[in-house]
Amino acid sequence: MAVERTLSMIKPDGVSRDIIGEVLSFFEKGGLKIVAMKMLRLTKQQAEEFYIVHKGKPFYDELTDYMSSGPIVALVLEGEDAIAKCRKIMGATDPAEADEGTIRKTFALSKGENTVHGSDSPESAAREIAFFFSELEICPR
Ligand code: CMP
Repeated sequence: MAVERTLSMIKPDGVSRDIIGEVLSFFEKGGLKIVAMKMLRLTKQQAEEFYIVHKGKPFYDELTDYMSSGPIVALVLEGEDAIAKCRKIMGATDPAEADEGTIRKTFALSKGENTVHGSDSPESAAREIAFFFSELEICPR
């Protein structure tokens, strides 16, 4: 299986509840390596740009308001099959549908306040990683 990189975020509900370390542990214990990480607060405009693929959907405004409501942690995860692995570790978007033992089943509050984001394809991963990080800020291990 190919070694991939994926972009993940710990969303404002995760940062504000002080579960950053616990969320990172799920990824590390799940076999993914953190190769870049930063905390920042998105502006509404930056959140709109990041989630541009969802523009026009009924939840776009709520989503971008929420994602700019407080600090987030952006991270690049690396490992074999990292995109699918990250999504498995996160669980389904809606915590009510997420499997036991996943981040969202454990921590998410709702479909919107669902604690984490993970890229959904190699194309999204490349775009989303470049949104937050320059190549210099990524440390292959
Ligand atoms: P994420 O993985 O960050 O990608 C898009 C986000 O949109 C998703 O997680 C959810 O948090 C959010 N989302 C998807 N569907 C809905 C919805 N019906 N209502 C509110 N937010 C949603």
